[in-house]
Amino acid sequence: MANFSPKTVPCLTVLLMFTIIVPQSKASLNANYYSQTCPQAEKIIRETVYSASIHDPKVPARLLRLFFHDCFIRGCDASVLLDSTVGNQAEKDGPPNISLASFYVIDDAKAKLEATCPKTVTCADIVAIAARDVVTISGGPYWNVLKGRKDGRVSKASETINLPAPTFNVSQLIQSFGNRGLGLKDLVALSGGHTLGFSHCSSFESRLRNFSALHDIDPSMNIELAQELRKKCPKPNKDKNAGDFFDSTSSTFDNNYFNQLLAGKGVFGSDQALVGDNRTRWNVESFAKDQNLFFREFAASMVKLGNVGVIEDGEVRIKCRVVN
Ligand code: HEM
Ligand SMILES: *[C@@H]1O[C@H](CO)[C@@H](O)[C@H](O)[C@H]1NC(C)=O
Ligand SMILES: *[C@@H]1O[C@H](CO)[C@@H](O)[C@H](O)[C@H]1NC(C)=O
Ligand SMILES: *[C@@H]1O[C@H](CO)[C@@H](O)[C@H](O)[C@H]1NC(C)=O
Ligand SMILES: *[C@@H]1O[C@H](CO)[C@@H](O)[C@H](O)[C@H]1NC(C)=O
Repeated sequence: MANFSPKTVPCLTVLLMFTIIVPQSKASLNANYYSQTCPQAEKIIRETVYSASIHDPKVPARLLRLFFHDCFIRGCDASVLLDSTVGNQAEKDGPPNISLASFYVIDDAKAKLEATCPKTVTCADIVAIAARDVVTISGGPYWNVLKGRKDGRVSKASETINLPAPTFNVSQLIQSFGNRGLGLKDLVALSGGHTLGFSHCSSFESRLRNFSALHDIDPSMNIELAQELRKKCPKPNKDKNAGDFFDSTSSTFDNNYFNQLLAGKGVFGSDQALVGDNRTRWNVESFAKDQNLFFREFAASMVKLGNVGVIEDGEVRIKCRVVN
């Protein structure tokens, strides 16, 4: 079969180029992945997410963040769901786990899926579908989630250091997203996920006092917002649950986040920096002007985020908190 005559050399070169490029192409994610094996999968997940969100309005933001966190560490492989074991501290017990919660919703959906179509739907796909559903039920866009991810077997607290920090500048954010194959537009659109949810004081209080040698308050922060946040986050602070909602419509998925940024009202340095840097400012402005554009780009970037580091040699976990 292999005939290495001089004539085949150009073909081999082409073949080699492809073998270098192909491993990048994502396993075999597909919008209809479960249509034969578990046609009810998305309906079961949607109903579970919906009823949980009605009982607890914090659920949508938490499930959206869960997907981001999962995909940024080891790819979208449900590593964020694994519990620590004797001898292994898992991601969810790593330092920036302060807002990781609502795992029970994923467990609940998984239990129902195991009852309906055992050993079929991965935890990684449940997280991706749930993230889409919470956006849609909060008034945001709908998109087809590609499925077929496998669940990983490894989760390490030490790796959460690779999440971007709320103090990052645009260069650091570009690098962090770029490492996962995500570009400038993805960075700005996905940051719009901060239209939902809440942050604890610890994630932004360095902007409120003694910010730098020259400025007590971060000069990129609107002064009224700074005064308000100082009241919500007094020093010393007895309430470890204190914090603030990201934008004034924090349970509605809309483009208000971008209008707030233009008014200097981003809560994190990493949010506000998007306005201060000319590589990202125009995207912020166009999303602030046009909500439909933001919705389309957010959906497209969520699909890309869902492709990050998808693995082929994983498993279909039976319980999302433990490897099989
Ligand atoms: C650009 C880099 C990002 C940074 C630096 C960042 C940082 C953070 C931090 C520090 C918190 C608050 C933790 C706390 O104090 O409770 C948070 C919350 C949140 N993040 Fe991000 N994040 C980023 C990107 C994203 C992306 C891409 C998404 C989803 C598309 C997202 C969705 C959320 C949501 C929904 C919350 C609120 C969670 C809740 O209310 O419980 N974030 N983020
Ligand atoms: C966060 O990590 C701490 C220990 O590092 C742990 O006690 C806590 O349960 C974790 N929180 C979540 C939501 O897993
Ligand atoms: C961003 O932060 C890094 C690390 O602190 C620093 O080296 C770099 O100069 C900063 N870049 C910009 C454009 O501010
Ligand atoms: C402000 O920061 C400086 C230098 O980092 C430090 O010496 C000083 O004690 C800080 N002041 C307050 C009020 O925390
Ligand atoms: C951004 O601004 C810098 C100077 O502040 C300039 O050199 C650069 O060309 C600008 N880049 C873009 C993309 O506008």
